[in-house]
Parts: sequence; structure tokens; C-alpha cells
Amino acid sequence: MQNQEIVTFQNVRKSYFLGEVEIKALNDISFSVQKEKFTFIVGKSGSGKSTLLNLIGAIDAPTSGDIIINDIMIETLNDDALSDFRAKHIGHIFQNFNLMPVLNVYENIEYPLLMINEDKNSIKEKVTKMIEDVGLKGLEKHIPSQLSGGQRQRVAIARALVKQPSLVLADEPTANLDSKTSGEIISLMRQMKDKYKTTFIFVTHDRDILDVADETYLLKDGVLEVRDVK
Ligand SMILES: Nc1ncnc2c1ncn2[C@@H]1O[C@H](COP(=O)(O)OP(=O)(O)OP(=O)(O)O)[C@@H](O)[C@H]1O
Ligand SMILES: [Mg+2]
Repeated sequence: MQNQEIVTFQNVRKSYFLGEVEIKALNDISFSVQKEKFTFIVGKSGSGKSTLLNLIGAIDAPTSGDIIINDIMIETLNDDALSDFRAKHIGHIFQNFNLMPVLNVYENIEYPLLMINEDKNSIKEKVTKMIEDVGLKGLEKHIPSQLSGGQRQRVAIARALVKQPSLVLADEPTANLDSKTSGEIISLMRQMKDKYKTTFIFVTHDRDILDVADETYLLKDGVLEVRDVK
């Protein structure tokens, strides 16, 4: 039978060292996320949420323990293989959107496909379709400063999904949005999950959006507890 786990952490620890002082950001975390789940990780500021998400996204490496994503043991990859792995398998939605200010909507969404050398026709087709999917038709030529917060977040979602990664990570995706817009953005992500069979992992402070989660974890002082599984 095919492995249904997309993310597995085995006894993962992450410490930061400031001179002699060790800051234990994550303390012996073991958990796994199944494919096609909508998983939320909540926790107070400083509890280690971004650290955890950056380990899942292979942006950062653990101090000890094993991380397996898509059946690949991350520590076995060298730098080139790691960049390749991230470009192909992971879509990252950052808290502050991280759009490129001089690129317009179309170009921002196209960018990840240029990075993986897709052919020109296929790029045009995928980007155009994704712009429609996230409801940005007609705004292709706008640059980020000419968009509302909700529209920018739609661009960030489209950019994360356009290469159809198996895993999308979102750090506080609704932090800068009013409650109506944040509801719309979350339901858009849910639709995209169903359509593209993507796994989503969110970290958030926003307790209002937890109703839509398939499973919720609480991160407290670097320790992860299951809070709710539907
Ligand atoms: N580069 C770093 N060097 C030293 N300490 C760090 C570094 N990054 C994070 N930390 C520490 O690790 C702990 C966890 O930080 P992290 O950014 O993961 O928290 P967070 O839950 O994402 O917080 P927030 O909700 O405020 O974004 C904090 O105590 C933080 O001060
Ligand atoms: Mg954070």
C-alpha cells in the first residue's frame, strides 16, 4: 500500500545558539501529516511555529532528529538537490506575501515555473488558469502596490499552487486581513486543496479559522500536542 504520510518528524529538535546560550525552539517533536489534509498548527508568539514550518519547507535544518517529506529523508540531500526538492514539491505562502514589487500579477505567478524550466506554452496555460481559479482575472497587469491585501494574498496562493506542489505551507496567511476576507481566503485554499489534491499546513494565531481544519496541533514552548482531529 502507498504511504499516506507526506510529512514525518522523528524526535526533531531545533536549537539556536546565541554565544553560549542555547535557545531550544523545538523540543523533541514527533508527528506526521497525512496526504491531502488541511492541518493547522496554533501557538503563541515565540512558541516555535515559524521554526517548525521552515523545517517542513526544508528552508532550515534540525539540530537533531529526522524529517521525511514525500518519502525523502531531507538530511540525505545536498544543497543542489535540496533547492530542486523545494522548487518541485513545496509551495510557501509567507505572512507578508513576499511578492516581487516590480513584477505584475501575471509575472509573480509565472515566476516559480520559470525557475523549474517549464516550456513557454505550458506556462501561459497554467498561469492563465490559476489567475482565473483565484479570481484575479482582469488584474494581470497590476503590480502588488495596486492591489488590496486580499488580492495580494490571492496572488501569493496562486504563486504557491501554480507548479502543483504536493505540499503548501502557509505562515499566518490571514494575519493582515479583515475577518470577511480571511474567511474568503481560507475557503479559496480549501477549494484549491480539493481541486489539486494538495496538502496544506498552516501556522496561525487566528482561532476563528480553526473550524475548517481537518486536524489541529498546539505548539507550546517547543512541544507539539494534538488538539483536535476530525
Ligand atoms: N535566528 C534565530 N536566532 C535565535 N533565536 C531564534 C531565531 N529564530 C527564532 N528564534 C527563537 O526561537 C523561538 C521560536 O521562534 P519562532 O520564530 O519559531 O516563533 P513563532 O511561534 O513563529 O512566533 P511568532 O508568532 O511571533 O511569529 C523564539 O524564542 C525565538 O526568539
Ligand atoms: Mg512566526
